[in-house]
Amino acid sequence: MTPYRYQALTNQLKGDIQASRWKVGERLPSVRELCRTQSLSKATVLHALHQLEAEGLLEARPKSGYFVKNTQPEKPPAPQPSTRKPSPQAVNVPNIFRDIMKHSAAFDILPNAGGNQASTHLVSLNRHISRAMRTHPEHSAMYYNEPTGDPALRNQLSEHYRTTSLDLAPSQFCITAGCQNALFLALMATCKPGDNVIVESPAFYGALQLLQQLQLNVIEIPASSETGIDIEAFESALQKWQVTACIVTPAFATPTGATMSAENRRQLVTLANQYDIAVIEDDIYGDLAFETRPAPLKKLDQQERVILCSSFSKALSRDLRIGWISGGRWHDHITQLKLVTQLASSQTVQQGLASFMAEGSYRRHLNLYRQTLKQQRDQLIRAIRRYWPASTLFSVPEGGLALWLEMDTGLDIQAAYPRALEQGIILTPGTLFSARGQYRNYLRLSFTHPITIAREIALEKLATTLSS
Ligand SMILES: Cc1ncc(COP(=O)(O)O)c(C=O)c1O
Repeated sequence: MTPYRYQALTNQLKGDIQASRWKVGERLPSVRELCRTQSLSKATVLHALHQLEAEGLLEARPKSGYFVKNTQPEKPPAPQPSTRKPSPQAVNVPNIFRDIMKHSAAFDILPNAGGNQASTHLVSLNRHISRAMRTHPEHSAMYYNEPTGDPALRNQLSEHYRTTSLDLAPSQFCITAGCQNALFLALMATCKPGDNVIVESPAFYGALQLLQQLQLNVIEIPASSETGIDIEAFESALQKWQVTACIVTPAFATPTGATMSAENRRQLVTLANQYDIAVIEDDIYGDLAFETRPAPLKKLDQQERVILCSSFSKALSRDLRIGWISGGRWHDHITQLKLVTQLASSQTVQQGLASFMAEGSYRRHLNLYRQTLKQQRDQLIRAIRRYWPASTLFSVPEGGLALWLEMDTGLDIQAAYPRALEQGIILTPGTLFSARGQYRNYLRLSFTHPITIAREIALEKLATTLSS
């Protein structure tokens, strides 16, 4: 028996199971069939099957054969939402954020540990961008692109959203330098210093930092890890205070991974209409749904008050620095703000993206990437179950890139940051996601990267470091 042959069969069967070619509970072909179809000896086939059994992917049933096991993690109790009463206040995000970004590590505990496979779609995207660069280089070098962005790319975005049953014309998009820039333009267009802005709590730290820089007050509304922002608390904040805008991530919010229910979405838009506030929708994780992609909140918007913000950063590449905004009634003002703050976006990158999308490569890439992320989510959950205290609570999101974890009360995770760093581990403490120092015993862990042996060891060490 050559190790190579059994390993090749193990990998092939594993790939088939993970791609759901054999579903949970289904029986694999018999040993005899596998010997025949793969031209392998019985010992080689059995070795591969035993390996998959040991890895928990297969279950042997006496006299019946090998069956695909359910590797879906059982849902643990979700982390508790905040119990603090909301009130407007200035934002103060911990400085630790700059250190995390210095290590390029907001989504990786072990930067540069590798393990990511080069996607053929990324290679193809590079080809599209190079081709765009070779076509009329003198034109893109000598002229700015129009402020709203490349018409072909806006056309593709319009087509893309149509698949989520959201109907937006190409003229309703403006290309931005990523989603962070889109959120900035949305806040600039809708608010003035001193205004109150509602966010879900825990909130994306990038949004909190924008509020801090624009001298806006934040009202943090508790959000659950399952259905997101608490609509009752949202309504009572609107009754109590003058609010200008809210920022929400209805699909797979970071850090909780929560997705708002259809009813909560409807109520949020109804309340926004009633209290005349702008809704800034951060849809950056929408395309990373493992199963059904939720339609953006903007689909419910009949008063042009939902501003849709997103980018290719999470679903395709952070390096493109291409995002978009559909600004509703503020769209012209937003386009003007884009012009004065940025002038234009790279024509070459936009054209490359447009032709990449036009040939269906973005859609194909998403189909594969979502499966990979789901597997990585499960790998991360298995590692947490293996190494972390049994009392650790965590969310199990159906999309996006991260788990939200709650550890024992009394643990100070931010205080453990330097100790983890000494071991080369970068952690993202829960305090980053609050304007008023909440979530001291919480943290975010991302499944953007595969759990390689190095990351598994780091997770084990991190559990010890946090508890010491
Ligand atoms: C919820 C959310 N919005 C926006 C951004 C910023 O995205 P971009 O890289 O496109 O600026 C991030 C990045 O982490 C994010 O998590």
